[in-house]
Amino acid sequence: MITLGIETSCDETAVCVLETRATTDAKTGGRAIEYRILENVIHSQADLHAKYGGVFPMMAKREHEKNLPVIVEKILGPGDEKIKSGALKIDRIAVTKGPGLEPALRVGVDYAKKIAERLKVPIVGVNHMEGHILGSLLTSSKSDAGPDAPFTKLHEPALPALALLISGGHTELVLMPNIGEYKIIGRTKDDAVGEAFDKVARLLGLPYPGGPQVSELAEQARLNERTGPDAATPEITLPRPMLRSPDFDFSFSGLKTAVLYEIRKTDENATMKPGAPNQDLTETMKRGIAREFEDAVTEVLTTKTAKAIETHGAQSLIAGGGVVANAHIRTALETVATQNSIHLFLPPAGVAGDNALMIALAGALTAIDNNRAEIDILKAAANLSL
Ligand code: KG4
Ligand code: ZN
Repeated sequence: MITLGIETSCDETAVCVLETRATTDAKTGGRAIEYRILENVIHSQADLHAKYGGVFPMMAKREHEKNLPVIVEKILGPGDEKIKSGALKIDRIAVTKGPGLEPALRVGVDYAKKIAERLKVPIVGVNHMEGHILGSLLTSSKSDAGPDAPFTKLHEPALPALALLISGGHTELVLMPNIGEYKIIGRTKDDAVGEAFDKVARLLGLPYPGGPQVSELAEQARLNERTGPDAATPEITLPRPMLRSPDFDFSFSGLKTAVLYEIRKTDENATMKPGAPNQDLTETMKRGIAREFEDAVTEVLTTKTAKAIETHGAQSLIAGGGVVANAHIRTALETVATQNSIHLFLPPAGVAGDNALMIALAGALTAIDNNRAEIDILKAAANLSL
């Protein structure tokens, strides 16, 4: 089965063509899913939004409207030429229906419906967060175009699995008794982890999206502390919010406020406002704050994850979402998995951030009985929950 996946929930316009097939595992005799990626395009608007310090929904919408048809036409050929000539076959369309930015989501959903009608194929709306979970079961995001390209086996997590989803918009712990069944057991009460990284980046005068840069500063601090030059780093201690709370919820908004108070020790006029760089910060201070912030976030995430594994008897751990690109957090999650003797599934390169491959995969794994009905009821749902 060949699925055309479309993702426009935030600031990435992404389209993927994924072929999947069910086989029998030679070793276990159980069902195995194999896949190969025929096309995988991600067009990021991050540079455009960077100027404004965050994603602007209406600008994201306009960019999706401009870019999505161009990407799809490149894949299907002008006037669906490749479909008509038989060079490419599409069996179904999968599109992100939520959660995300409403205007951005709508562009994807409306366009996907048009293609489905034109190609007379069923359409399925995919929950973006399910995409992030299932995307971590892929082994590669490389497209292997060509009829002879090999199929790759999808990872099979031992069940029940626990998923930690950490992105710019979400921070959730999700229990997955089976693929397609999800129960949110914990979530952030305020800022998402990625959002906290981005806000701290702004406080440190770094451009959006600041996660990768905060992480780089933190790595430099660790390296420098080991080799000497940062020996004079001021002692900075940030809180570990909700570390010992009895639930699996998180809170990260207090952390950025704590960072602001640290900065005010050197620059009493420091503010949270975009475009107001806090000038008096030394590079050493910035590195020290980044390191302590990353340590605090990592400690809270891993402590709660470990507790959830134990409480719910999770047999495997899945991590997904843009923040999983963070090397320090990945390493800490590896340790949690090892300590619990379970396997950790991380998204392969190119699948941590938003992409259409994970959406095509989730759509392919979703059995739909009444395909035509879906096109009538399918609509963007900005606050969709798993
Ligand atoms: O999943 P994603 O691409 O988009 C959302 O659905 O939100 O996640 C984007 C978020 C941004 O907040 C970005 O700063 C963060 O992921 N991020 C990172 C790193 N790379 C991306 N945060 C920390 N460390 C990183 N290396
Ligand atoms: Zn995402």
